[in-house]
Amino acid sequence: MTTSSVQILRSKKELRAQVREWHMDGLTVGMVPTMGALHHGHLSLITEIQKHVDKVVVSIFVNPKQFGPNEDFNKYPRSEAADIEKLEQVNTDLLYTPAVSEIYPEGFLTNVSVSKITEGLCAANRPGHFDGVTTVVTKLLLQCLPDVAIFGEKDFQQYAVLKQLAKDLDIPTEIIYGTLIRDNDGLATSSRNVYMSAEERQIALEIPNTLNRIINEIEGGSLTIEEALKNGTQRLLDAGFKEVQYLEIRQSDTLESLHQTTAGPSPISARIFVAAVIGKTRLIDNMPLKISL
Ligand code: PAJ
Repeated sequence: MTTSSVQILRSKKELRAQVREWHMDGLTVGMVPTMGALHHGHLSLITEIQKHVDKVVVSIFVNPKQFGPNEDFNKYPRSEAADIEKLEQVNTDLLYTPAVSEIYPEGFLTNVSVSKITEGLCAANRPGHFDGVTTVVTKLLLQCLPDVAIFGEKDFQQYAVLKQLAKDLDIPTEIIYGTLIRDNDGLATSSRNVYMSAEERQIALEIPNTLNRIINEIEGGSLTIEEALKNGTQRLLDAGFKEVQYLEIRQSDTLESLHQTTAGPSPISARIFVAAVIGKTRLIDNMPLKISL
């Protein structure tokens, strides 16, 4: 039997002890929180954070608190053996994969909540989702105490919320982000892509196509923002999406709506965000763009 080159720990006590030992040896530690079903997007975060730190901890924890009652917690893909193989390929040092009872022991009563940037976008259709994310990430960061933690641009609102969280709570971890990774055909890589049939997957390509088209229309000046977004929503529905939960442009830094922007440099850095449902699969994506107001 071969033993894995990745150290696997399931208790916070062992995790703390290992990270403390690395720190005492003068090594820096990075953390990549995930829910597993690892793909190229996750692995890119590992190779990116390796440029910043000496040792990398990846956590895999499917966090029940961030799933709504009608969401996919039970059917969320779980594949520990395959995940460990992928972690080995990118030289991960440690996998922390706690049980639910290790994170939320009986009698757990605390909720961590960030306001303002958790309004709208993903929060509107997933009540309680961001509180679940901020509560678990606070715990994971405090259990590990990494020097750096990385989150993907794919979930840009989540990254912005977590950066704010670490700043506001004086968590001594630098929060950085990793580039959004796409499959060869342009669809944002996601653990949930496996839910789609081949036909749905083909239709799903309309998401990156529509975002690119809207960006060209707005940056090229051929349509107003309002017109381009309205046409884009219709195009997604015509292509076969059941629902477009949002298709919005916000300021990059603050995630404020554009109408909240007053004086300032023009063009401003903005981002277009989309969430749309195809069959039973909810997909999200986002891209940067420049807006002249
Ligand atoms: P999960 O969906 O597993 O994603 C883990 C990390 O991988 C997140 O930071 C996410 O933004 C990043 N990621 C996912 N797909 C990506 C892609 N195509 N390109 C780049 N990065 C990508 O996000 C979560 O888990 C959870 O909410 C978590 C933060 C772990 C808290 O439970």
